[in-house]
Amino acid sequence: MSPAPENATEYDPQLHRWPHCVSAHQITRSVFELIQKRAAQMLDQLEKRDWSRMHGELFDNIPRQSLANTITAGLILEPSTRTQTSFNVAAARLGSSPQVQMIDPARTSMGKAERWDTTVRVLCQYHPDAFVLRTPHVEQAYQAAALFGDYTGSHHPNTDKSWGVFINAGNGSDQHPTQALLDMFAIHKVCGTINGLRILIAGDIGRARTVNSLLIALAQAAIDSTIVIVAPVIDGYELSPPAHVMHKLDEANLNVQVAQVRTRDEFVDLARQADVGYWTRLQVERYRDELPPSFAAANASLIQLSPELLDQTEILAFHPMPYTDEVCREVEGHHQVMFLKQAGWGVPVRMALLELAILHPKQLRDAFEQDTRESA
Ligand code: NCD
Repeated sequence: MSPAPENATEYDPQLHRWPHCVSAHQITRSVFELIQKRAAQMLDQLEKRDWSRMHGELFDNIPRQSLANTITAGLILEPSTRTQTSFNVAAARLGSSPQVQMIDPARTSMGKAERWDTTVRVLCQYHPDAFVLRTPHVEQAYQAAALFGDYTGSHHPNTDKSWGVFINAGNGSDQHPTQALLDMFAIHKVCGTINGLRILIAGDIGRARTVNSLLIALAQAAIDSTIVIVAPVIDGYELSPPAHVMHKLDEANLNVQVAQVRTRDEFVDLARQADVGYWTRLQVERYRDELPPSFAAANASLIQLSPELLDQTEILAFHPMPYTDEVCREVEGHHQVMFLKQAGWGVPVRMALLELAILHPKQLRDAFEQDTRESA
């Protein structure tokens, strides 16, 4: 069994509170619908813009610059391509100055022994309208969320607009809520729904924050879907999902199966029955020495998304990217493979999130509270 990752999310409703976007625990059904609908409008506007540019016209007022005179700042303290760029593009499209920077933590003040909470207190003093953080340390995101929450809360308790919106763009192996929003948007866009689907989860069910976040968000937002979690068993070593994620799924309106898989045929059978497959790379950097040496290669061939698998199934394949050996390069561009479109939809989804969180925080809070009242 894979040991539990350190510091798994303790869900604290006071901290995981809109307009801050701290974890997938905040993505309930009405919240997803609100963001999904706004993101679909954003996507429509972006497509109109592309269409008009293709025809030699430049509609520079599409989409509307609703976040003019705001600043979307952020620190990305771990590798990132999509998340950093798509936040900057999303902010810029809405007229918010994009300042989400990638930086090696050793080159920040922490490299000069500053404590993390002091760094964040300083960042609060700059009054960004939104602050995006990616960190390898699970707890750093929660400390930053608390400090941004205290600071903005104590200064503007009743305003209808918000500033200092904290957005968790990935904290260690724990959470990546904006990716979960994007993944559900992509599934919804392609399948027309997130309900009543058979969704296969393969790749890294133990340490991928994308998987944790997607499962928690599906548990709260989807109805009557079946989630099949592929637990590879290789040389007696087995990956297993974190207990808090399983607990969340157990409480949900979903059918959940954890399928131990030892052979390729078993995997292909599961893929044949699924509508949607969500693959991830094995997060090797998050296991240190715990994985048996041959595990990564054996896992990749067990669950690999190959042209043959696509021929044998009707599965629609999603992946947060980057992909490694769990995906054959040749499948890129295949009509069942959604990765590139999915990545592209990161821009309208993050536009919708930024706009709602900064301009319409009450809508997010009301949507969340309506769902929590109903489920109480
Ligand atoms: C993911 C991440 O950083 O968790 N990347 C992303 O944001 N699209 C997935 C990964 O690194 O495997």
